[in-house]
Amino acid sequence: MSGIIGYIGDTSAVRVILDGLRRLEYRGYDSAGLATVCDGELFVCRQVGTLDQLDEQIRAQAVPGSAGIGHIRWATHGVPAHENTHPHTDAGDRIAVVHNGIVENYAALKKKLSSRGVRFRSETDSEIIAQLIGFYLKRGAETLEHAVHCALMDLKGNYAIAVLDKHNPEKLLAARSGSPMMVGIGEREMFVTSDAPAIIPYTRRVIFLDDYQVAVVGRSGAVITNLSGNVVDRQESVIDWDVTEAQKEGYPYFMLKEIHEQPRMIKKILLLKLDFKRLHLKLEELQAIKQKLSAAHQIIIQACGSSYHAGLIGREIFEYFSGIHTDVEVSSEFRYRDLTAGTDCLVLSISQSGESGDTLAAVRRAKQKGMSTLSLCNVVGSSISRESDSVLYLQAGPEIGVASTKSFTAQLFNLYLIAIFLGMMKRIIKRELKDSLIKELTFIPSLLKKVLGEEPLIEAIAHKYAGYRDIFCVGRGINYPCALEGAHKLREIAGEHASAYPAGELKHGPIALVDETVACVCIAPKSQTYDKMVSTMQKIRARNGRVIAIAGEGDEEIGKYADDVIFVPVVQEIFSPLVVSVALQLFAYHFAVKRGREIDRPKHLAKSVMVE
Ligand code: G6P
Repeated sequence: MSGIIGYIGDTSAVRVILDGLRRLEYRGYDSAGLATVCDGELFVCRQVGTLDQLDEQIRAQAVPGSAGIGHIRWATHGVPAHENTHPHTDAGDRIAVVHNGIVENYAALKKKLSSRGVRFRSETDSEIIAQLIGFYLKRGAETLEHAVHCALMDLKGNYAIAVLDKHNPEKLLAARSGSPMMVGIGEREMFVTSDAPAIIPYTRRVIFLDDYQVAVVGRSGAVITNLSGNVVDRQESVIDWDVTEAQKEGYPYFMLKEIHEQPRMIKKILLLKLDFKRLHLKLEELQAIKQKLSAAHQIIIQACGSSYHAGLIGREIFEYFSGIHTDVEVSSEFRYRDLTAGTDCLVLSISQSGESGDTLAAVRRAKQKGMSTLSLCNVVGSSISRESDSVLYLQAGPEIGVASTKSFTAQLFNLYLIAIFLGMMKRIIKRELKDSLIKELTFIPSLLKKVLGEEPLIEAIAHKYAGYRDIFCVGRGINYPCALEGAHKLREIAGEHASAYPAGELKHGPIALVDETVACVCIAPKSQTYDKMVSTMQKIRARNGRVIAIAGEGDEEIGKYADDVIFVPVVQEIFSPLVVSVALQLFAYHFAVKRGREIDRPKHLAKSVMVE
């Protein structure tokens, strides 16, 4: 998984490309490179390591040109090494290509071209694309476009590519199949990119490419065709993200900035989705599919990573508010399952990026089976949002930190709104109850602020336990998935072993591991199982394990059973994941900082994973 940007305009291409790559750093970061074209020459710079190193190389070389392509790489095929870094060129050094995705049949294609004398220079699957384009041009393809179409027709797998040709300096080509790619429209300058944040400072006007479409981009416009070369009509969209939303604004890391953005973000979601006067939900996207929703007798939520954990909380919320039977599946499993559910099943896909490959494949599978598909995505125009029957956007703004924080909270918040909508529709929730639930949700921004106000204490506690061998996170009911997400954050960001259990399961095995080297985060707001949770805490302490409780404000008893307590505002049990999750995010963040981790660039992880 990698990030792509391309530029053609009147200014220095390297500056725009480097600036864009910095905004894409979160997509992958083991190596980076760019290519420009000037006076019939191709200039290629590639560097293993950081973007600063690439910048240094470019300054030393003074790379000219006002058209170019750039790439930041997270290795899938071939180790991070100079020869595997993009852009890749064809054997004649005429064509430069950057690629995101996986070419599944590259070995067979490589064998074929090698037998015809083409010499390969890398271990990557991506090089084959540059070599194929060069091969077709040599074999007499009339135009660059024609050679690109031929090359793409040979590929199996998924790709987003940008292509530069030293014999055609007035254009860039971009194409996609299964990986995101868009064209940015500026004033006498044009862009191509895999990710909107790369070009937000320059333009918000974009055209999202569909699979098997190719954009031929010049300085003042783009023509989109299919692989047969026929022009297709594509609508322009406007990205409504703010430039500052994609900057750190004084925070040391995007993750911390995004944690702190949450009260403001929830306020924005409320403003967009609520009529405050009438306490009425303005979910037009759901109104439009009301018939399908009322026909739904079952919901399957499918997602990966943090979005899956949000889905597990979603199940509790949906069943509580709407009474609709809800199952939750990990996308990578769901996509291969024998689906027994019928066409009265609604498949809700949750994905921040809207690009997770497994989640997208599962949407396609559900559609094949005749199920209705609704998606909850953050990135506007993303593949999952476009392929689902309908989409509800999270409205979380751009999330740059690899670990989901604000998008997770936005997922939960939107799930509450959807569930209340369904509950009203199924007449399970009466008007008075709806009004009081919505009123409670309007207090969430100020409650989240209160949790953030506890940061100094949470930081001190996280630092105290940062040296522990093992962290357990335990919870019950709706807070068990919060425990899963808490442990997940610790693994992702701190790179330490952390595991989560439903509190009642601890005694069936995991308790064997508890001793003085283990710290257990016990999620214990007042709930119907509060006493059971307290009993679990006592069992942990009886084995010398340390207990960090997350409890409701004013719970004076809890201190007797815990070594440390993080207090969160008191809300109804069903809403408790909102406040608990933010406390857990701060805990994981400060734990990881104490451990000296690279917070926004966790080892081996990428923000969106499009491959299997
Ligand atoms: C990757 C990220 C996770 C994220 C998951 C799902 O694995 O590292 O942080 O939760 O993908 O991403 P999505 O964009 O589908 O929500």
